[in-house]
Amino acid sequence: MDRLAIISGGSRGLGAALCSHYRDAGWQVVAFSRSGRGGGDVALDLGRPEQAARVLAGTLALLAEQSWDEVVAISNAAQLGPVGPLAGKGNAEILASLDVNVAGGIVFMNSVLRAFAAHACDKTLVNISSGAAQRPFHGWSLYCAAKAGLERFVECVALEQASSDHPFRVVNISPGVIDTGMQAEIRGSDDRDFPDRERFVGLKEDGVLQAPAAVAGIIARIVSERPDNGGRYEVADYAR
Ligand SMILES: NC(=O)c1ccc[n+]([C@@H]2O[C@H](COP(=O)([O-])OP(=O)(O)OC[C@H]3O[C@@H](n4cnc5c(N)ncnc54)[C@H](OP(=O)(O)O)[C@@H]3O)[C@@H](O)[C@H]2O)c1
Repeated sequence: MDRLAIISGGSRGLGAALCSHYRDAGWQVVAFSRSGRGGGDVALDLGRPEQAARVLAGTLALLAEQSWDEVVAISNAAQLGPVGPLAGKGNAEILASLDVNVAGGIVFMNSVLRAFAAHACDKTLVNISSGAAQRPFHGWSLYCAAKAGLERFVECVALEQASSDHPFRVVNISPGVIDTGMQAEIRGSDDRDFPDRERFVGLKEDGVLQAPAAVAGIIARIVSERPDNGGRYEVADYAR
């Protein structure tokens, strides 16, 4: 079986665990990030969406020349910051956040859809979402906006894929709280910027944060069970 996994943000955290999971299962893995240096890693900054689109197009066009039995793409890369009330943020950091979390995510997903549009194999595109897509947090307005926006983006794309000749199944997956650098960044926030900080410190102290490898395994399981196109899945529902 020739199976291909394409993952953004593969250098650390959940993305690195997803890469390991698929590699260990015998898939060819291609990962995009700024700092990943392993085999299969491609350097790209989603904060520069136009440049990123060119890198993605070139890399994915080569991969699309091959025939595959299955393709899974996971839009995982994101940044949390800037954390803190919007009123204190300048336009440059606002736009930089939107570039990575909104434009970068959309460019990644569209590049995959476009490159593999003619492939008739089983194809799944996953957007790694967050509880922040569904509820507001004081100090996370940009992160919440991006996660909510991309969930709706995925739902629209799912409708469009349903009537295409060789559709991707397109889904949102909310991974729950994971013990990664992003959680360390949350715990390191200033209380004035992020009043919920203590609760997240408690999640770490109480051992509630999930291991990235365990979450990656559940995400791969959700994908392997052929989720509904346009559906939203919570890792927590599978972890019990
Ligand atoms: N951790 C949690 O509790 C949690 C909860 C809910 C949702 N999530 C979501 O799960 C996903 C993974 O989070 P994580 O906790 O693993 O985060 P993380 O440890 O901070 O890792 C983020 C990944 O995204 C990549 N990335 C960030 N900015 C990038 C850019 N400009 N261009 C390319 N790649 C970029 C990073 O690679 P480089 O720095 O090498 O570029 C890194 O590989 C994210 O979508 C996050 O929103 C996480």
